[in-house]
Amino acid sequence: EKGGYEHFMIKEIHEQPKAIRDTLTRRIVADSDEIVLDDIKLTAEDLKNIDKIYIVACGTAYHAGLVGKYVIEKLARIPVEVDIASEFRYRDPIINERTLMMVISQSGETADTLAALREAKNRGARVIAITNVVGSSVAREADDILYTWAGPEIAVASTKAYVTQLIAIYIVALYLARLNGKMTVEEYRVIRDELLKLPEKAEEVLNRKEEIQKFAAKNYGHKDIFYLGRGLDFAVALEGALKIKEISYIHAEAYAAGELKHGPIALIDKGVPVIALATQEDLFEKMVSNIKEVVTRGAKVLGVAFDGHEDIEKVVDQTVYIPKTLPLLAPVLSVIPLQLLSYYTAVERGCDVDKPRNLAKSVTVE
Ligand code: M6R
Repeated sequence: EKGGYEHFMIKEIHEQPKAIRDTLTRRIVADSDEIVLDDIKLTAEDLKNIDKIYIVACGTAYHAGLVGKYVIEKLARIPVEVDIASEFRYRDPIINERTLMMVISQSGETADTLAALREAKNRGARVIAITNVVGSSVAREADDILYTWAGPEIAVASTKAYVTQLIAIYIVALYLARLNGKMTVEEYRVIRDELLKLPEKAEEVLNRKEEIQKFAAKNYGHKDIFYLGRGLDFAVALEGALKIKEISYIHAEAYAAGELKHGPIALIDKGVPVIALATQEDLFEKMVSNIKEVVTRGAKVLGVAFDGHEDIEKVVDQTVYIPKTLPLLAPVLSVIPLQLLSYYTAVERGCDVDKPRNLAKSVTVE
């Protein structure tokens, strides 16, 4: 059942190229300018009456939502607020019929996410669900659905569900942007063509896993790891930190790199591993300055950058390169080295990778 792999997690990491392809299939099609979404009925007229989007989820799905804010605001120019479901439901959120609510849940059964969905519906909002489970509670109660086609995810640590949530977010963002006229067909085609190349590029990242394995073998004994990034890289940094905490029990923190000086840099000491994501081209130089700040204090830095950005080697100890894509789509590729890092680190530490302590795959209680 593990298809020759030692753990479900590593099997599922390797299933990502297929999961990405399956989630795009029939919806985003080469040479076609149509986005086909069978279970989303929202019309251009409906969208005219929407002035705000809320994305609500837990854990990894929340991290996908953070990418969603960036992508939807950029493409569809609609303000987006992202919230953790257990916070959202208890804070008397400002929602009405002009709010579009998007919930993201792999299982479709997370108690807090479901409660947030119900709260939003009670207050008149329309709800779009992104979920991996057909017929789940979230799918049954939402107005519109976009299924991720990740297939069953067994490992507690979410991997292929996350990348397919990202793909679903790009699809919705493109759909909204076409619907409200914020995106030209030419702009659409550029993103469409790049999206369709992602399965192959994800495969390429997987082929480069030895680099990560080496880093894990050298660093698995540390007590703390820091993840830094700016913009979309920060959203991915948060997911990387969660992944390593969950399965290898190493304390990890993610920071927006510009925040370092405001406190966390005090934690950087000789030999502390730092994972620095530097895929966002317009922020690359800023990231390089932040990397220098931690290197000066003795950090050991693993950089994640696009092919062609070899200049990063001047400041980091080791680099993992990912194939070039649009910066907007980078999270789909840059998260893979971070998933592999947590996997190999957990294996080195002898942890129970697929069933980490204290965690359940689906959190159906509050
Ligand atoms: O099924 P859901 O997507 O609603 O689950 C949400 C979180 O419980 C889940 O993503 C959790 O954070 C994972 N274990 C992360 O790897």
